[in-house]
Amino acid sequence: MSRRPIAYIAGLGTAVPPRVVTNHDFEKTLETSDQWIVERTGIRERRHADPGMTVAALAHQASLVAIQRAGITPVDLGSIVLSTATPDRLLPSTACDLQALLGATRAAAFDISAACPGFVYGLTIAEGFIASGQSENVLVVGAEMLTTITDMTDRSTAILFGDGAGAAVLRRATGDRGMLSTFIRSDGALAELLYRPGGGAARPFSAQVLEERSHLMKMAGREVFKAAVLTMAEACDEALTRAGVTADEIDLMVPHQANVRIIEATAKHAGMPMSKVMVNLDRYGNTSSASIPLALVEAEAAGRIKPGSLLLLVAFGAGFTWGSTVVRW
Ligand code: UT7
Repeated sequence: MSRRPIAYIAGLGTAVPPRVVTNHDFEKTLETSDQWIVERTGIRERRHADPGMTVAALAHQASLVAIQRAGITPVDLGSIVLSTATPDRLLPSTACDLQALLGATRAAAFDISAACPGFVYGLTIAEGFIASGQSENVLVVGAEMLTTITDMTDRSTAILFGDGAGAAVLRRATGDRGMLSTFIRSDGALAELLYRPGGGAARPFSAQVLEERSHLMKMAGREVFKAAVLTMAEACDEALTRAGVTADEIDLMVPHQANVRIIEATAKHAGMPMSKVMVNLDRYGNTSSASIPLALVEAEAAGRIKPGSLLLLVAFGAGFTWGSTVVRW
């Protein structure tokens, strides 16, 4: 017997910058090839924001669509939960900038730092806010300009990441539609597998930080890969068990889009054929917490998600963090 949902996604929206950067573009600046990138990651192209773009502006574009689709207005929002690894400024939150752009004058706004599973963390927070009566309408946003913290001279990370945003309005469930389970977990002992060593309070920005390029992301790719496969497997099992459903009942898995080989290993663990898995990283690369809403919107537009569909959303990322949710659409 599956659980009754507390909250459902009433509207979704996404935004990506217009500039497309292909694998062939990287061949001009790095010792890499389209063939290597496609075989090892599944990525063919990604979007890069141009100077002048902001995370709040991308989040704003995505949020306006989500709010309109939910049939509400910005003043109806009680909370704005924005996940990003690339805040526009370190103080105040990008969520507050988004609130001002939206004119969401009755909302509490704050950022969360949960890396790639940030959208799933946000859904979990929204469910809690709705259950407690804190907010009737919660805007959950994943918005990233990872290219601003990517070392474009490091071929093992430069080719992976892209920019984008996704937003969802969460409301109290009244029927069968909504999240049937949520699961989130972290392991801070793995922090240095994927991190930005410099530029924060521990190593404030300085000429040395700049020279060492330690304000940019560092990643132990192979170790992250291994941890990702293990945590994605656990996250699938937990969300299914907590929802009281089996993998056979899932119509579509919508995983974090980091590497197609990680997605294939996760699907194999869950016993799901790739025909029941959404993959769009070939066109966007890894957009961190924006990847799941970007995949959800495309899956719905392609007719792969219909009212009543049972979905498994699952993600992992820096922290290490991981999480999952089973959703009745
Ligand atoms: O949201 C979480 C974000 N992070 C991830 O999801 C990353 C997870 N990890 C991965 O996706 C993979 O580990 C990578 C795609 C980063 C690397 O693939 P891999 O199959 O694990 O390669 P590797 O790190 O074991 O490196 C194999 C070789 C190395 O050369 P040598 O030392 O064998 O000569 C790398 O230098 O591949 C080389 N290499 C590249 N070659 C061509 C690394 N990046 C590239 C590249 N083009 N872009």
